[in-house]
Amino acid sequence: QAPDQANEKQLAAAAAVQELADGMVVGLGSGSTSALAIRAIGAAVKGGLDILGIPTSVASEQLARELGIPLTTLDEHPAVDLTIDGADRFNDSLDLIKGGGGALLREKVVAAASKRFIVITDASKHANPLGGFPVPVEVIPFGVQPVLQRFTDLNLNPVIRQTAAGVPFITDENNLIVDLQIAAVPDPTKLAEQLVTPGVVEHGLFIGLADEVLMGVGGGVQRFTA
Ligand code: A5P
Repeated sequence: QAPDQANEKQLAAAAAVQELADGMVVGLGSGSTSALAIRAIGAAVKGGLDILGIPTSVASEQLARELGIPLTTLDEHPAVDLTIDGADRFNDSLDLIKGGGGALLREKVVAAASKRFIVITDASKHANPLGGFPVPVEVIPFGVQPVLQRFTDLNLNPVIRQTAAGVPFITDENNLIVDLQIAAVPDPTKLAEQLVTPGVVEHGLFIGLADEVLMGVGGGVQRFTA
């Protein structure tokens, strides 16, 4: 990634971490931008900040543990005060495409359980109409062929995600990811409705969940609100 993009991610992550306060239960997002936020939270915790984290992926849990961030679960704290997570794309209505890292299912569960959901991105993620990135769908392995058939019939160009080793990518919840190779999502609500079919566990369209997007751009942060 370009140095500018790395800097924009860092600026957005730092701005979001400013919103934390003692006593909060905090959703810890997944992906490279969230990892920067988790590192900043780790530093703040070392400095005395008193929060409990709920990670949205195995990778984020591992990082948070390494940094000494105290963790909890949705079983113990079903209401999350604030979640900070990245996104693959967002539009001006704050609809998101998420799941480029394959963590969309836990991410959506935690976002939906959160009183406030802040999205942190670099400037490359802003897209009107929403698009320019495949829409990930999490599917149980048992049901993947009928789901592929349905998505093909809908002209959604579904592709089962593979790892670099050429085997199917398996999510933290032991499912497959089907990526819809579509250029744009002019009507996210309509697409989200089309994606609900037996075998689909969740999809990476996050509609009406984000309260704000903090986008690093150049040397500053631009704030988009719902
Ligand atoms: C993980 O599944 C995704 O939803 C991430 O939040 C998203 O891919 C953003 O990742 P980056 O911050 O690495 O771009």
